[in-house]
Amino acid sequence: MQVGADVLAESAHLPVLCKESIDALNIRDGGCYVDGTFGAGGYSLEILSRAKCQLFSLDRDPVAIDRADYLVREFGDRFSISQGCFGEMEVLLSSLGVDSVDAVVLDLGVSSPQIDNPERGFSFKFDGPLDMRMSSEGVTAEHIVNTLSEAELADIIYTYGEERLSRRVSRAIILARSKERITRTAVLADIIRKVVPRRKNGRDNDPATRTFQALRIYINDELGELKRGLEAAERILMPGGRLAVVAFHSLEDRCVKKFLAERLGRNNGVSRHALAREPSSRTASFKLITKKPIYPTFLEVQSNPRARSARLRVAERTTAPSWPRRQFND
Ligand SMILES: C[S@@+](CC[C@H](N)C(=O)[O-])C[C@H]1O[C@@H](n2cnc3c(N)ncnc32)[C@H](O)[C@@H]1O
Repeated sequence: MQVGADVLAESAHLPVLCKESIDALNIRDGGCYVDGTFGAGGYSLEILSRAKCQLFSLDRDPVAIDRADYLVREFGDRFSISQGCFGEMEVLLSSLGVDSVDAVVLDLGVSSPQIDNPERGFSFKFDGPLDMRMSSEGVTAEHIVNTLSEAELADIIYTYGEERLSRRVSRAIILARSKERITRTAVLADIIRKVVPRRKNGRDNDPATRTFQALRIYINDELGELKRGLEAAERILMPGGRLAVVAFHSLEDRCVKKFLAERLGRNNGVSRHALAREPSSRTASFKLITKKPIYPTFLEVQSNPRARSARLRVAERTTAPSWPRRQFND
């Protein structure tokens, strides 16, 4: 598999928790799988290499889709790639004639090729246009930062970045943009650094980390997508099918944990009002395979610092029908 390995190395993306996630899917000859977050293709390559199976990969980023050519050449009909969101995986798969699969894997967030390309505007470490759109469509970070009210910006920064100083950051943004439109990542990062003190240690020691995370999650509706993706996976997984999700921050992980807790029939995290609406006889549609999340090894974090906040949760689909379409409580 040297060609695949070379393409991966070129993309500079080291897949995180790859072996653990793909082990969890029970890949076998004749199986049918979905990689909902193709990225640089590390997970997809691993799945296709393990057995004579069928793989349907998705990514919302057209640049990631272009990168998939090497797998098409290598694996022919066994591999197919579509551009689109995993929240719409049922529609995307049904257009390919697929209505049920043996496993779905989601490796959330952004890839190294996205974050390391200044032109994509995801990173405060490089100067680039304030973009942050994974699909290169829709509203940019520049638009959000220059048009939303102080209260709206503070709300986004607090909710999706868990930034305690969100009001201070949004006030600084409003002041700065009253003098000149904010169009560059470096300018925004400097505005934030002037009002948020640097933390002594921890993963987000650059003061801009949390605000950049918040804008990215908001612009790409990442949590809405995750909820839709989990519910879609529930509907297309066969009984015994596996769901594996790798999350990179607590907001994502909380969402996965609550979804599974609810589908296991546990009450924790579900409001009394939601329970009142639900018949008490609802049967668990998943069972947990990992009681506790799986974390990367010390060695993986040492060789790939981006792995440090990752955690994997795995569940198995039961024979119970899917729960009705609605956003689960979070
Ligand atoms: C962390 S990377 C995945 C890396 C991949 N597992 C690998 O081994 O190279 C996340 C990828 O998921 C894509 N993505 C994020 N949210 C998505 C969504 N809702 N639907 C489809 N793709 C999404 C991003 O564009 C990015 O390419």
